[in-house]
Amino acid sequence: MAISLTGIRPTGTPHLGNYLGMFRPALRLAHDHEALCFIADLHALIDVRDPEALRARTREMAAVWLACGLDPARAALYRQSDVLEICEVTWLLGCVAAKGVLNRAHAYKAAVAANRDAGRDPDAGVSAGLYGYPLLMAADILAPGADVVPVGRDQGQHVEIARELARAFNGAYGEVLRMPEALVDPTVMTVPGLDGRKMSKSYGNVIPLLAEPDELQRCVMRIVTDSRRPEEPKDPDTDTVFGLYREFAPEGDARAMRARYEAGGLGYGEAKAALFEVLDEYVREPRARYRALMADPGELDRVLAAGGARVRERAAATVDRMRSAVGIAA
Ligand code: ADP
Ligand code: TRP
Repeated sequence: MAISLTGIRPTGTPHLGNYLGMFRPALRLAHDHEALCFIADLHALIDVRDPEALRARTREMAAVWLACGLDPARAALYRQSDVLEICEVTWLLGCVAAKGVLNRAHAYKAAVAANRDAGRDPDAGVSAGLYGYPLLMAADILAPGADVVPVGRDQGQHVEIARELARAFNGAYGEVLRMPEALVDPTVMTVPGLDGRKMSKSYGNVIPLLAEPDELQRCVMRIVTDSRRPEEPKDPDTDTVFGLYREFAPEGDARAMRARYEAGGLGYGEAKAALFEVLDEYVREPRARYRALMADPGELDRVLAAGGARVRERAAATVDRMRSAVGIAA
């Protein structure tokens, strides 16, 4: 069975952008793939300096995966840091990676550009960890031999770098690494946030995925719309409220809502109320499962330990092949 693999950093409360861009496609792939899903705690260390917070966020993220429907009997759920082989693969890839590839990575380039704009040294505050981010991510993907990597559009470049590094390694040593492919859901691409920009925790414009009803309602009511009056026709394709409604409502309801937008006579207040209803219903069960999981840490630990052991076996086989290819083992 082909392998799908994806991870998320435990750096905040997951939001609807994460869900539509990554969790949902990953969980759908789990039906006909061996799905490997992980919490990228090593990547989180680049920004997080509070050990207790990292531990807590990692558990929360594990609970979110399970609450959203990951079945640990079929898919593997694990902590990146439990798969020690990933660090070794990172180094082996770093030795064939052109430094220029890392110079071009979006996150590093953005940090350098911000420093330049502020008149600072270009590398001020940039850790070697941030610079090497794409190497570690390539190792996440290549160590267990992933075929498909479901991610949001902003992560496409990282998967492309993983492919480039696999090519470089295989070019130097023969066909050792499997070539992965990114899967970016074309109907979702970039989920807009409350202010219409990409929904992102760094913009503070998110709708948390498992928000309690009152918070969910407050968020939905804050979504920015244009100033068209209720009687005017509206463009469903540029409106954030409809953009989200369409993803969560049954298809027939979404079609009917689209028609009402186009016909005029529907106010944004009413559209927001409909969005709130549909979201609240959609997350009711996951919200309850999440609460139950957080109350049972033993179960979370068991799931993570089993997932880690399963993925280590795969990663260890890759490491053996890589070691022997480069000449550091028989
Ligand atoms: P954030 O931008 O909030 O920090 P992350 O960078 O942690 O989110 O993203 C985790 C995963 O969710 C990635 O696969 C990313 O592509 C996806 N993702 C994040 N925000 C969105 C969005 N607005 N639309 C689609 N996918 C998203
Ligand atoms: N970089 C990803 C993000 O910020 C998280 C991640 C780490 C990842 N390793 C990965 C995603 C491997 C897919 C595959 O969202």
